[in-house]
Amino acid sequence: MDQIVIRGGQRLKGRIPISGAKNAALTLLPCALLTDEPLTLRNLPRLADVDGFGHLLNQLGCSTTIEGSRPEDFGRVMTARATTLTSTVAPYDIVRKMRASILVLGPLLARAGEATVSLPGGCAIGNRPIDLHLKALEALGAEIELASGYVKASAPGGRLTGGKFTFPVVSVGATENAVMAAVLAKGTCVLENAAREPEIVDLCNCLAAMGAEIDGIGTETLTIEGVDRLHGATYRVMADRIEAGSYACAAVITEGDVELVGAKADEMEATLAALREAGATVEETKAGIRVAMSGRAQPVTLSTAPYPGFATDMQAQFMAMATLGTGASLFTETIFENRYMHVPELARMGCDIQVKGRTAIVRGVDRLVGAPVMATDLRASMSLIIAGLAAEGETQVNRVYHLDRGYERLEEKLQAVGADIERVSAG
Ligand code: EPZ
Repeated sequence: MDQIVIRGGQRLKGRIPISGAKNAALTLLPCALLTDEPLTLRNLPRLADVDGFGHLLNQLGCSTTIEGSRPEDFGRVMTARATTLTSTVAPYDIVRKMRASILVLGPLLARAGEATVSLPGGCAIGNRPIDLHLKALEALGAEIELASGYVKASAPGGRLTGGKFTFPVVSVGATENAVMAAVLAKGTCVLENAAREPEIVDLCNCLAAMGAEIDGIGTETLTIEGVDRLHGATYRVMADRIEAGSYACAAVITEGDVELVGAKADEMEATLAALREAGATVEETKAGIRVAMSGRAQPVTLSTAPYPGFATDMQAQFMAMATLGTGASLFTETIFENRYMHVPELARMGCDIQVKGRTAIVRGVDRLVGAPVMATDLRASMSLIIAGLAAEGETQVNRVYHLDRGYERLEEKLQAVGADIERVSAG
């Protein structure tokens, strides 16, 4: 398994290209199942999860062809075409490796009137139930049965009817599945307390480009008029706001000055406000967002929340940044029940962090010391990289396959702005 080795102490200076968003790509790819025409996605990031989703689409009879990349994009162009579906089953061995596979449930139901998808099971950050996905689809007329670890869903008469569903808690994935199911339903669907993440806006805009009729895009109430069919489209995946925020934290902890090329300020306002609270200079540029810092980070008090609140996917990275700050920072993780797996690993580097339930108190220390550490989940891995960039000596991050799921060409991007970082094959 590969390792990433960092020798800390370099200030990051220069431009970091931001790739297409993993969490947008993973909900745009299943849209190809909704039509027999080709869906071409631009700016698709080169990530393990994107490759994994392409493999799942192939299993269902959807062809996927990579077509190089356009000069104005950092990602690749992929055309996916489901002329006919050869299967409506998402098997356990695929779903267990990539939870986002559950996002074929809605599109398969919409296109084929049936779907059999393995229950994804939990992961390091929580047990990740899918009850809201299933309740929303039932509200649209689906019949759902759980048997031997699989969800078996069907649409009586082969087509969903539309309906109304109010999400008791905001759920990104459940909103995505419901929207993708509703666009081909016979009737109107109203989703209340829907997630408003920019990735949902990207999904709705892509579906609209395919002929879907969706009102309220970007708000918590989505009204979808089902149509009989959707056509193909070409759509550009949005920039990854979480990748951008992660590199911004790296810039702050190393007292650097970086430009996040392609990042969109209006998609990451809570992150930018938190960076300013930490004392960073944050300004929009023609090409993206500049983040600069001199001195140690000021204390921050951050509580994760659904968009437009402070993203749970940014919590671990900001915690790493706060470890070398002044004073005490307070984090509250309200979304997932076990998203502090990075804390014991950061403690190995000399961080002073106390976790009490959903709350963590980070007291700034004067120095971090590089150490061998272990990645446990995607964003926790990034927090270890961020700490390693500022630690004295060498940090070896193990199990970097977690990182490869969400950060494209991480070492290259960081080397290009002065980091002393390399990937070592540990056999
Ligand atoms: C998406 O996960 C993202 N993944 C996550 O990013 C992100 O952390 C999360 O949204 C929140 O923003 C992708 O987009 C592929 P949720 P998702 O449904 O859809 C509970 C990363 O690091 N819930 O919004 O699974 C759930 O347990 C990943 O890139 C139910 O109770 O998140 C959680 O407490 C990690 N029942 C809360 O809702 C359900 O049916 C929010 O989960 C569904 C969710």
